[in-house]
Amino acid sequence: MDWTMRLVAAALFLGLTVVVTRAQVRMSQCASTPVPNEDAGFCRGNLEVSYTELQNISCKVVPNCNNYREKITTWPPPLVKYPGASETATYLLVMVDPDAPSRSTPLARFWRHWLVTNITGTNMKTGRIQGQELSPYQPPTPPPRTGFHRYQFLVYRLSTQNISLLPEETGSPGAWQLDQFQVRFNLGISEAATQFMTQNHMDSPPVRAPGGGGSVQAPPTGGSSEPKYKPKQASGLALPACIHIAYHLWSG
Ligand SMILES: *[C@@H]1O[C@H](CO)[C@@H](O)[C@H](O)[C@H]1NC(C)=O
Ligand SMILES: *[C@@H]1O[C@H](CO)[C@@H](O)[C@H](O)[C@H]1NC(C)=O
Ligand SMILES: *[C@@H]1O[C@H](CO)[C@@H](O)[C@H](O)[C@H]1NC(C)=O
Repeated sequence: MDWTMRLVAAALFLGLTVVVTRAQVRMSQCASTPVPNEDAGFCRGNLEVSYTELQNISCKVVPNCNNYREKITTWPPPLVKYPGASETATYLLVMVDPDAPSRSTPLARFWRHWLVTNITGTNMKTGRIQGQELSPYQPPTPPPRTGFHRYQFLVYRLSTQNISLLPEETGSPGAWQLDQFQVRFNLGISEAATQFMTQNHMDSPPVRAPGGGGSVQAPPTGGSSEPKYKPKQASGLALPACIHIAYHLWSG
């Protein structure tokens, strides 16, 4: 090989390194992270929550990639699948945000995002949430600078059919007394539950191209709600390996 060839080869390898490293950054950001340990205990009964572009976000943090955190604010209702549903039973689904307006100051807890009753066991099993919609689906729209919000899903097996909201409850989705609602209809403990977390997309920094260390900036702290998630360091192996190969080409 002459020098020009070697130079071209070396440049090619270095170029490849940057591409590989960028892909790694995207991968590490796009993998959905589990919710922090203290929030994982909430998830019971293998509930699956799937949006069209995001499969099974149950017990996960919405990843900071592909504009998911922005897109989820406009997507139609998710599939909520409860594999353990009994086909002869009837179910109630609750979706609430306990962190309104923020986890540190939840003055409007619970924010009601969806309330559907009279869901057949068959539909509950397959995730088609059809029934009597007492509160239409309202997508997660966490306000800017309020940190991560939890979006909780609770599935109850019903013994009574005539579930309804009081006029004062239908007035606003905020500050909903979920406990009183549970007591009023003798709902007991939910059969299955899960939650996912997301924050306003403006508070999620865009993925930075690796310059110096190739590290990814952690999201700014948004109060106590910040899930303890550590973005992976991106350029661990690729760069040394490529320098090594380039060196061998160079020295013949
Ligand atoms: C979806 O995720 C939840 C929580 O991790 C898990 O329990 C459940 O088995 C998953 N369902 C599917 C179909 O992957
Ligand atoms: C509940 O669902 C069943 C079956 O889909 C239907 O026949 C019934 O009218 C519904 N009840 C109410 C109160 O909507
Ligand atoms: C449900 O309906 C029954 C009779 O149809 C009534 O006695 C009962 O009070 C109702 N329950 C609620 C919580 O509205």
